[in-house]
Amino acid sequence: MSINEVFKKRKSTRMFLDKAVEADKLIQIAEAGNMAAGTPMAGKVYFNVVTNSDVLDVIVKNTQTIMKNSGVDMLVKISSNPNFNPFYGAPCAIVISADKTDNPSTREMAIANVACAGENILLAATELGLASCYMTSPTLGFAIPETREAVKLEENMEPLAIVVVGYAEDMTPHSDYPENPENIVFVE
Ligand SMILES: Cc1cc2nc3c(=O)[nH]c(=O)nc-3n(C[C@H](O)[C@H](O)[C@H](O)COP(=O)(O)O)c2cc1C
Repeated sequence: MSINEVFKKRKSTRMFLDKAVEADKLIQIAEAGNMAAGTPMAGKVYFNVVTNSDVLDVIVKNTQTIMKNSGVDMLVKISSNPNFNPFYGAPCAIVISADKTDNPSTREMAIANVACAGENILLAATELGLASCYMTSPTLGFAIPETREAVKLEENMEPLAIVVVGYAEDMTPHSDYPENPENIVFVE
């Protein structure tokens, strides 16, 4: 697949099949994340590749708890749906973390580093025939220490995004990319 085909094929999936992802694919995907652009000024980016269903359940359960008690109307409403699963049944969640920092500028850079790594992961997964979704809301569940312990996050690591990957029945790409989008401006 050409890189342009990969771009066009990538789409957020929110319904996964109950089928494990092969270990060699997970290694390739995590290594793609690790090859992303990133400024060393924000320290390192870390990848915790979770396939253990008990650990996935801990993240899901604690995310639901935090969302329900957040006081944010939209999060309370979403998490009150008994069918809501923030991972949508994906068999693998890659927790992407950066070094914790109190400096707001450094944290902005850390978020950008994690986002670059996450996009590499999404594209690598797409190329390997996998469905995926980049997400930030399930990082809320890490406010509960049990989640950090289950995922084996070290004290210095702040989880900033999660990419779930897996197989899906519906792999149809988006079809509505505009031809000459007005938000792309060429200054010549
Ligand atoms: C920073 C960021 C946070 C996101 N958080 C979530 C999330 O918590 N849950 C979710 O289902 N999707 C999440 N998404 C996925 C977006 O909803 C999705 O990328 C967007 O709707 C565009 O659809 P597409 O990815 O299919 O092109 C997030 C995406 C980004 C970039």
